[in-house]
Amino acid sequence: MGKSDGKKKSTSPKVAFGIDIGGSGIKGAPVDLATGEFTQERVRIPTPQPSTPEAVARVLGESVGSFDLPGDAPIGLTFPAIIKHGAAYSAANVDQSWIGTNIADVAREATGHEAVVVNDADAAGFAEVAYGAAKGVPGLVFVITLGTGIGSAMIHNGVLIPNAELGHLEIDGYDAETRAASSAREREGLSYEEWAPRLQRYFSHLEFLFSPDLFVIGGGVSKKADKFLPLLDLRTPIIPALLRNDAGIAGAAALAAAEAE
Ligand code: BGC
Repeated sequence: MGKSDGKKKSTSPKVAFGIDIGGSGIKGAPVDLATGEFTQERVRIPTPQPSTPEAVARVLGESVGSFDLPGDAPIGLTFPAIIKHGAAYSAANVDQSWIGTNIADVAREATGHEAVVVNDADAAGFAEVAYGAAKGVPGLVFVITLGTGIGSAMIHNGVLIPNAELGHLEIDGYDAETRAASSAREREGLSYEEWAPRLQRYFSHLEFLFSPDLFVIGGGVSKKADKFLPLLDLRTPIIPALLRNDAGIAGAAALAAAEAE
């Protein structure tokens, strides 16, 4: 649009809706796509137990229905699983009956909006690159979420390579997330100093395999990053995530909007 056409520019931000489906909560908010910020306060509804597709569909309808959204607003959803073409190929901390279910179809029927589904860590990673700690960083960025499991997002020059599932690398005979996730630290009552050698082993291995340019650490424990990141000795810079719990919602909304274009 030229400067001289005399039309007033719209001041309302371009918005998409993001929903983060997790084992304990389903959180949603409209997202300003320019900044990644929420344009209305986030709504959190506890994940129904059992978290079957039917039960979660009801919550999706309730969550989206509680906002005043334009009918054509795209919806992005995160899900803790391998996602291909809208369907789940695994299910971490959610009901196993999701495996083989097309989540995008479930969400479309429940909400009446076009829906795009993405792995939870991929969404968080995309948001950190678009709006957060890795904004403007060229090359290969890994966003690793340390929570109940280990989630991984692999982004090269801003392009997400989905479903990396690097939390399940086998290291020293163990599925890595069973030793190095934040839940392993809690379960075994480890101090940060006792946990750090496991993180060191994990991140050194990732570094050796991929030679990334940056590691960004997400998940609830990233709030305590100063207690464990300084204990690690890596060639690659390693920094905490910026968007914390909002990253999944923002990333899912941004990916849905990109797909709708
Ligand atoms: C799952 C991933 C998920 C990660 C974080 C892992 O156990 O396999 O799909 O991204 O947990 O929730």
